[in-house]
Amino acid sequence: MANLREEIEKRRTFAIISHPDAGKTTLTEKFLLYGGAINLAGTVKGRKSTKHAVSDWMEIEKERGISVTSSVLQFNYDGKCINILDTPGHQDFSEDTYRTLMAADSAVMVIDGAKGVEPQTIKLFKVCVMRHIPIFTFINKFDREARDPYALLDEIEEVLGIRTCPINWPIGCGHNFKGVYDRETEQVSLFHSNAGGKKAVEKEVFDYKDPELPNHISQEYFEKLQEDLEILDGAADAFDEKRVDAGELTPVFFGSALTNFGVETFLQHFLSMTKSPLPRKSDQGMIDPVEEAFSAFVFKIQANMDPKHRDRVAFMRICSGEFDAGMEVNHIQGGRKVKLSQPTQMMADERKIVDKAYGGDIIGVFDPGIFSIGDTLELSNKKFVYEGIPTFAPEHFARVRQIDTMKRKQFLKGVSQIAQEGAIQIFQEYNSGMEEIIVGVVGSLQFEVLTYRLKNEYNVEVRLEMLPYEHIRWIENYTEIDVSAISGTSDMKLVKDLKDRPLLLFAHPWSIGMVLDRNENLKLSEFSRN
Ligand code: G4P
Repeated sequence: MANLREEIEKRRTFAIISHPDAGKTTLTEKFLLYGGAINLAGTVKGRKSTKHAVSDWMEIEKERGISVTSSVLQFNYDGKCINILDTPGHQDFSEDTYRTLMAADSAVMVIDGAKGVEPQTIKLFKVCVMRHIPIFTFINKFDREARDPYALLDEIEEVLGIRTCPINWPIGCGHNFKGVYDRETEQVSLFHSNAGGKKAVEKEVFDYKDPELPNHISQEYFEKLQEDLEILDGAADAFDEKRVDAGELTPVFFGSALTNFGVETFLQHFLSMTKSPLPRKSDQGMIDPVEEAFSAFVFKIQANMDPKHRDRVAFMRICSGEFDAGMEVNHIQGGRKVKLSQPTQMMADERKIVDKAYGGDIIGVFDPGIFSIGDTLELSNKKFVYEGIPTFAPEHFARVRQIDTMKRKQFLKGVSQIAQEGAIQIFQEYNSGMEEIIVGVVGSLQFEVLTYRLKNEYNVEVRLEMLPYEHIRWIENYTEIDVSAISGTSDMKLVKDLKDRPLLLFAHPWSIGMVLDRNENLKLSEFSRN
C-alpha cells in the first residue's frame, strides 16, 4: 500500500491544449528533453516530411504531415512521473481531443505571444472549464515580436473568462528579449538565444536587487521592469491555490519553447502547483485513487493502429489502484469479467508493453470490439460506474451514401464501427430507419478519415453530400413533449441518434433562440451524456 500511495502521489497527468502552431509540440519536446526521455529535442513529431514518431498509423497523417489522433507520453522528472496527453494540433481535429481532456487532471494552455487567444484555444478551454480542472498558461514565442503582456492577460481574462496570475514577467520581446523575472524567487533569468534550443540552455540568473542586473538588461529595461512589478503587485490577482484548483485562476508563464527559455522553470512551478490524481466521481460516490482497487474508464478507442491486424485499442485512464498486465477486471457496461491484454504505453517515441501501471496513468489495451467510450472497468465488485463522457456537438454534417448499393451490409458495419469508436456520430431522419445516414463530425477532417477508412478497411466507396447545418441541440425533455409537433425554422432539421434520441440541426445559430421562443416547453442541450 505504501508503495501504491507513493506511485500514485508522484503521478501528474495533464493535457496540452493550443491553437495549431502556437508551439505545443515544441514545448512537449522540451519537456521530454528535461525528463531525459529523448536526447535531442525535435524528435517527437518529425514535422513535414520527416519521421512521425508517435502516431503513424494512418496514411492521412503521413500525407498531410499532421497528427489526427491524440497520444499519450510518459516521462520522469524530479521524482515525478508525468503523463502528457497530447491533443491533435490540426484545426480539423476530432471529438477525440475533447474526450482526451476528460482523462486529464489539469491542462497546459499554450498561447502564441503574437497572436493571443485563438479560436481553437477557446473551444478546448471551454471543455476544461466544464470539468473545473486547473489550467496553466504558457505564453510562447517571446523571442519574437509579441503583443504587450498586459494586453495578452486582458484578452485571456475577457475572452476566456478566467482570472490570470502572472508567475513570471517578460522583459522585452523579439530582438530586445532580455529575459524573465520570476515573481516568487525575485530573480531574473537572462535570455540568450541558442542553436534552436536543441540542448538545455545555460542559465544566467540574477537577483533583482543585484546592482549588476541593469548592466545586463539595460537601464531602460530595468526601469520598465520596476514599473511593471509595481503595477503587478498592486493590480494582478495573487496566486491562490484554491482558485487555481477550481479552474478560476490561471497561473501564467512567459517564455520561448523553441529556444528552450523558461521551459524548465515552468515545469518546476507547474509540478509544485499541481496535485497527484484526486478522487473521481462515480455513481457510488467519490473513488479514492489509493484506497480503492484498480479502476479505469475508457476515453478513446482507436482502430487499426496496425492495418495488417485489424486491431482496436481502447485507451483507458486508470483512476485508482494498480494495474497488472493480464489482470481480469469487471467490465461494468459489458456485464462480465474481461482480461486486459497487450497493455501498452507510449514512452516518448516508442510504444512499449507495460506490466504495471498506477492511478493517473493511461494505458491502451487490446479491444476485441467490446468496449465503448465511457465504459468503466474495475476490480472491486462494487460495480460502480464513472460519470459518462459527454457526446460533444458535431459542427459539420454530411449525408453519406455508398456508391455500390450491393455493399449495403459492409457500409452499415463500417459506419457503425467507426461511430462506436467515437470518430463520427451517426444520425437518421427522425421518422425513418437506416436508409438515410447523416454523419456529424467535430472536425471536417474526420470526413476524409471516414471515406478513407471505409474504402481501405471495409472496401466500400462512399459519396458525401455536405449539409448546411453547423449547430446541434439534443432535446433534453423529449419524453415529456411531442417532438413531431415542434414548431421549427426553415433551416432546422429533426433527426435522431443511434439511441433514438431526437435532436435538432440548425444552419444558423440564431434559429436556436427562435425555436426556443416558439416552443415554450422545449429544453435543448449542447452535450448529451452517454
Ligand atoms: P503546434 O504543435 O502547437 O502546432 O506548434 P509547433 O510546436 O509545431 O510550432 C509551430 C511553429 O512555431 C514551428 O515552426 C516552431 O518551430 C515555431 N515555434 C514554436 N515555439 C517557438 C518559440 O518559442 N519561438 C519561435 N520563434 N518559434 C517557435 P515551423 O516553421 O512551422 O516549423 P519548423 O519547420 O520550425 O519545424
